Amino acid sequence: MLSIRARRILAAGLAGLLLVGMMTTAVSAASTLGAAAAQSGRYFGTAINSGKLGDSAYTTIAAREFNMVTPENEMKPDATEPTRGTFTFSAGDQVYNWATSHGIKVRGHTLVWHSQIPSWMTSLSGSAATLAGMQEHINGVMAHYKSKLPYWDVVNEAFNEDGTRRADVWQNNIGNSYIEQAFQTARAADGAAKLCYNDYNIENWSYAKTQGVYNMVKDFKTRGIPIDCVGLQTHMTGGSSLPSSFQTTLSNFAALGVDVALTETDVTNADVTQYTNLTKACLAVSRCVGITVWGVRDSDSWRSGESPLLFDGSGNPKAAYTAVLNALNGAPSPTPTPVRTASPTPIVTASPTPIVTASPTPIRTGAPTPTPIVTASPTPVRTGTPTPPPSGGTASCSATYHIDNQWGNGFTTAVTVNNTGTVATKTWTVTWTWGGNQTFVNSWNAAVTQSGTAVTAKNMAYNNVIAGGGNTAFGFQASFTGTNATPTLSCSAT
Ligand code: XIL
Repeated sequence: MLSIRARRILAAGLAGLLLVGMMTTAVSAASTLGAAAAQSGRYFGTAINSGKLGDSAYTTIAAREFNMVTPENEMKPDATEPTRGTFTFSAGDQVYNWATSHGIKVRGHTLVWHSQIPSWMTSLSGSAATLAGMQEHINGVMAHYKSKLPYWDVVNEAFNEDGTRRADVWQNNIGNSYIEQAFQTARAADGAAKLCYNDYNIENWSYAKTQGVYNMVKDFKTRGIPIDCVGLQTHMTGGSSLPSSFQTTLSNFAALGVDVALTETDVTNADVTQYTNLTKACLAVSRCVGITVWGVRDSDSWRSGESPLLFDGSGNPKAAYTAVLNALNGAPSPTPTPVRTASPTPIVTASPTPIVTASPTPIRTGAPTPTPIVTASPTPVRTGTPTPPPSGGTASCSATYHIDNQWGNGFTTAVTVNNTGTVATKTWTVTWTWGGNQTFVNSWNAAVTQSGTAVTAKNMAYNNVIAGGGNTAFGFQASFTGTNATPTLSCSAT
C-alpha cells in the first residue's frame, strides 16, 4: 500500500509527465499556415485585393495566417501604366504597405502578360516600338519597387496549351525573343528581385505546355538568360485535377537551377486530397520555396462559385485548411536544429519568421550574366498628370467588350472605351444589360456596379480624360451560368 503522501507525489509526477506530453504535442505543431511553412524555410502566401483592405475580418485572417502576399490585380500592367508613361502605384502601394506593415513580404505580379494590359499596349505595332513599350513598362514599374520585392513574375502565361507561344501583342510584334528580352530588362532594372516565369496548366509533367515552358527555361539556363524561378499557378478546376506527376514536374524544373513555387493555388470545392498532395509535393522539393493561395476566403475568390479556398465566406477554416496545416507541420526541417522554441507558438504572427529559401544552393548558377540590352531609365513618353480637357463642345464615346478568359462559370473581360469625338472627356460611363445569368465580381480601372441585370461602369479619378479619338480600357471579372452572351454596350461622356 502506498502512503497518501507517496500517492500524492506519484499523482503529481504523472500529472507533470502528462503536462510535458501535452506541451510537447502543442509545441510540435505551428498553428498558422505561415508559421508552419516557415519551419521548413518556406512561405505560405495569399493574393490580396486592395479593395478589401478595409474589411477587418479579411485583414485579420490574412495577417494571422500568411507571410507572403501577391497583389491580386494591383501590379498588373493596366493598373500600373494605364496611360503610356503615366505610372500609377496607388493600389499596388496600398497592398505593399499593408503587407510590409504586418511584416509580410510581397511577390510582384506581373510585368508582361496578354491579359489586363492597357489599350495602349494592345495597340502597339512594329517590333522596335513594341519592345520599347515593353521595356519602358518593366523599367518604370521595377524602378518604383526596386529592391523591395523578393520575387517578380516577369512574364505570365506566354504559352498555348500545345506548348507553342501564345500569339499576343508581344509575340506577334517582337517574336520569340520577347521573353528573354523581358528577363534581361528586368535583371538590369532590379538586380535584387528573383525573376520568375509564371503559368497555369504546367503541373502535369507529360503535358505539352509543361514541356514547352521547361524547354524554354532550360534554354535560358544554357544561354545565361537571367531567370531565377518558375511559378506554377496550380489553379485546379473541375476539369484539371492535380496530376500524379506534379512533384516530378517541380523537381525537374528545380533541377534546371531555378526556384519553384505554387503561385495561385485554388482547387474546386477545396478538395482535401488535392490540397494535401500539392502541399506535400512542394515540401518534397527543396527548391519549392512556397505556396500562395489565390485569395483568403471563398467569398474573396475569383472563382467564388467553386468555393476553392481554405477559409469559408465567414472566415472559418475549412477541412482543406487543417489538411494543409497538418501537411506543413509534418515537413522535415531543412536543418537538424529544431526551429521551435519551448513556449507554444502564438496564433497571431505580428512579426513572422523571416522567409528564407529552402535550399542552400545559390539561386543563380555559374552561367554568366549577359550584358543587359537596355539601360535602366527610359524616357517617359508622357509626364505624370493627365492633360485637362479643353472646355466647350460635347464629348462622345463608344465601347467594346471582349471576353479575355473564360473558365467553368467565370470570365474576365477587357472593355475599350473610345472617344468618338474631338473633345476630350471629363467623365465617361459605360452601361449594358446582361441576359440575367451573369454576376459581376470585381473590376479594375473602372468603378462597376450591378443592379439586377443592369451594369454601370464609371471612370476612375485617373482615367477620366480620354483625348479626342483616343481610348482607354478597363476590365472586370464576373461569373455566369449557362451561356455567356456578349451584351450591347452604351457609352456616354461629358
Ligand atoms: C485574376 C484575378 O484573381 C481576378 O480578380 C481578375 O479579375 C482576373 O485575374 N492568372 C493570373 C492571375 O496570373 O493574375 C489571375 O487573377 C488569375 C489567372
